[in-house]
Amino acid sequence: MEPARGLVLLVDDEEKILKVLGRALRDDGHEVVATTSAREAQRLLHERAFEVLVVDNRMPEKSGLDMIRDLVSTTPEAERPQVLMMTAHATIEGAIEAMKLGAFDYLQKPFEVEELLVAVRRALAQERLRTQHRYLLSERDEEFNHYGMVGRSRAIQDVIRRIELVAQSRSTVLITGETGTGKELAARAIHDRSAQRSMPLIKVNCAAIPETLLESELFGHVRGAFTGAASNKRGKFALADGGTIFLDEIGTMTPALQAKLLRVLQEREFEPLGAERSVKVDLRVTAATNRNLPRMVSEGSFQEDLYYRLSVIPIEIPPLRERREDVPLLVEHFVRRHADRMGKRIERVEDAALELLAGYDWPGNVRELENTIERAVVLSPGPFIGPADISIVGVASAPAPGLPSLRLHQNVEWAERETVKRALERTGGVKKQAAELLGISQRALSYYLSKYHVD
Ligand SMILES: Nc1ncnc2c1ncn2[C@@H]1O[C@H](COP(=O)(O)OP(=O)(O)OP(=O)(O)O)[C@@H](O)[C@H]1O
Ligand SMILES: [Mg+2]
Repeated sequence: MEPARGLVLLVDDEEKILKVLGRALRDDGHEVVATTSAREAQRLLHERAFEVLVVDNRMPEKSGLDMIRDLVSTTPEAERPQVLMMTAHATIEGAIEAMKLGAFDYLQKPFEVEELLVAVRRALAQERLRTQHRYLLSERDEEFNHYGMVGRSRAIQDVIRRIELVAQSRSTVLITGETGTGKELAARAIHDRSAQRSMPLIKVNCAAIPETLLESELFGHVRGAFTGAASNKRGKFALADGGTIFLDEIGTMTPALQAKLLRVLQEREFEPLGAERSVKVDLRVTAATNRNLPRMVSEGSFQEDLYYRLSVIPIEIPPLRERREDVPLLVEHFVRRHADRMGKRIERVEDAALELLAGYDWPGNVRELENTIERAVVLSPGPFIGPADISIVGVASAPAPGLPSLRLHQNVEWAERETVKRALERTGGVKKQAAELLGISQRALSYYLSKYHVD
């Protein structure tokens, strides 16, 4: 790792010390502002965003401790530098008090210059981690506010309400729904609205990890637990401690692992592979599946006890075709997201295009709709999206070859658009001849041309 170089404010009433320490810090690559006056230091702190403040405790104008007190009462935590206090043995209580106020560390005089350099580097590393963490949190909030769960249907409103209620508890949640309905989004929303939101949310995709690895992935292992276990490894359950673990595609878990998981849910503890002692955890479990777990229970492929333990709070997300009234809102939302991302101006999605979208069955649900919109935004010249810009690729339940879907309305429009396009191609773009080929008037042709944005 690149050694951290930062902006340091150095405060000590003794000119000589200031000189020596200042030079050492500069030699170590930092930008240093040094002052013998506590008041001057306070002014500087308002002026520039120092990353580390190194301050002596015993100073005539104002003690280092008082400076820290002022800083804490006037500046929000996020904007304060990391504080290192220098203190003589006689004023060690002051240093302890400073630590209680949130100072990063203290150095007891006399100390080696090298000790100061190490402490400043560590403080800087800490400051950078803090900044990064804050950035990630704010980014996540932004994502959630702007791109949260969209929908006005009764069904999705019920889901959102349930998410909000369950977020206030630490109960286990089972989220079910077809592929692409927003199960993962719901799991993230629960965590982001919970009191543990600043703790980790750890996702495990049970279907993506080979069965033989999943156990150590979840519970961790100690060195030598099996061939290839060269070191200790913390499992996802340990990493999620204090926060949330999200077990995605829980329906693919093998019976042996189901049994282990059941134990964790019951006892809130587990043993890493090869470990002698069990580890206690305090976390929320959320799980998701697109499989029919009750049926799997009756067929004997999913443990009944585990099913009940998981579905303390069940949340079922209905497929998009059962809440078509959400389509226009989702379309607007995805148009905005992808237009923003591309820096493209899209003013409106035409009614005819919306109708087309609302009429389709969306076997791939919201994800398929989003992909369709992304494609339209990318391929449309803008600023309007018309039916001609929409091409539905489809996932499951393929329609007859050559037809875009099984919706009559959609296929008719598709046929109209294709026929007009082909006639124009045939005549090299000469509209009069194309109209003749199509057996319609030129006026009718202009209507189709503008309806489908064919040039
Ligand atoms: N109500 C919604 N509002 C906005 N975006 C949504 C909504 N539901 C789903 N999405 C978006 O659709 C995409 C698919 O959602 P998500 O990955 O949560 O689905 P899933 O149910 O977990 O799918 P799978 O079963 O395939 O894992 C994501 O990009 C998600 O942000
Ligand atoms: Mg998912």
